Amino acid sequence: MTHPPIDVTDAEIDQAVAALRAGQLVAIPTETVYGLAADATNDDAVARVFALKGRPADRPVIVHLGAAEDLSDWAVDIPEYAQAWAEHFWPGPLTLVLQKKEHVSGSITAGQPTVACRVPAHPVALKVLKCLGHALVAPSANRYGQISPTTAEAVHDEFGTEAPMVLNGGPANVGIESTIVACVGPKPVILRAGMITAEALEGVGQVSVDGLQSQASVIAPGQVASHYAPRTRCVWVDDAATLKACLEGISTDLRLGYLGWQAPPQRVAAAEILADEPKRAAQQLYAALRELDRAQLDRILIHAPPKGACWEGIRDRLKRAATPSHKQQVV
Ligand code: TXA
Ligand code: MG
Repeated sequence: MTHPPIDVTDAEIDQAVAALRAGQLVAIPTETVYGLAADATNDDAVARVFALKGRPADRPVIVHLGAAEDLSDWAVDIPEYAQAWAEHFWPGPLTLVLQKKEHVSGSITAGQPTVACRVPAHPVALKVLKCLGHALVAPSANRYGQISPTTAEAVHDEFGTEAPMVLNGGPANVGIESTIVACVGPKPVILRAGMITAEALEGVGQVSVDGLQSQASVIAPGQVASHYAPRTRCVWVDDAATLKACLEGISTDLRLGYLGWQAPPQRVAAAEILADEPKRAAQQLYAALRELDRAQLDRILIHAPPKGACWEGIRDRLKRAATPSHKQQVV
């Protein structure tokens, strides 16, 4: 994965590392979304991440490593296929859930016997990890349940005056969160869809991978139905016929927005049309949702993305955005 030149200075990296050593938080760019980072070996710092995000303590966080070799410091009983994935896909948008080593704090794993690890593919994140010499926990740098930030500006928008230091590494290259795979049962299972598909994993790991659909039997904390959601109420529309019926049922007094792949209906006040190509659409997705959420709309119509495995991560995020939660205004 290539990145445009980054203008984070060495002085900023030093400042970020000093803050992390002092137990403070720093928002870092990764290739997927921005992360709210804390020293993974400092329980107080990890607690600060949960406090700032407003994240429930039963949602474990991902440990970010500087290199695949560090995995054995955090996990045990690593299956051969998982080792092969780590070597092939890292640095990259893949998180492996494995049996944790004894020392790994329950504040990271939410008391579970497993730990989630990945190596992020962003030069700034890797530099911070190298200079710090410790792993980082880094959940997405948004308030709990909100849309993940893909730019430094979006991190500032999320936290306002409470924002920690933010390293600006430019817009995220992948745009949606990493694929999470549980590697602890008889068969690997995808817990969160991302841009690395089951098919890509099967090719490298020489193992069959259970897709997202079959996750019901696996404990997948954080995978609540409503997530990655704008404050504006979103309505899922599967196809042109549903869209038409939906429009007919919504009062003409309401201001509508549209996110999708087709020409927007005439009566919408704001529209975001995403690219036909999944990689580009993933890069655009969260910025488009944030834009519509700022547009003073009563409803956002979300059109289903094209079919196919490469679209699964995007479809999953949009479905969750369109699942009503308490925080969305109901009009
Ligand atoms: O792309 C990403 O993964 C981003 C960037 C910043 O690296 N991070 C991210 O973190 O999305 P967060 O905290 O927003 O999502 C972490 C997900 C949650 O759904 C959590 O439940 C799951 O990882 N997770 C963490 N540890 C787990 C474990 N031991 N077992 C199962 N799921 C776990
Ligand atoms: Mg998140």
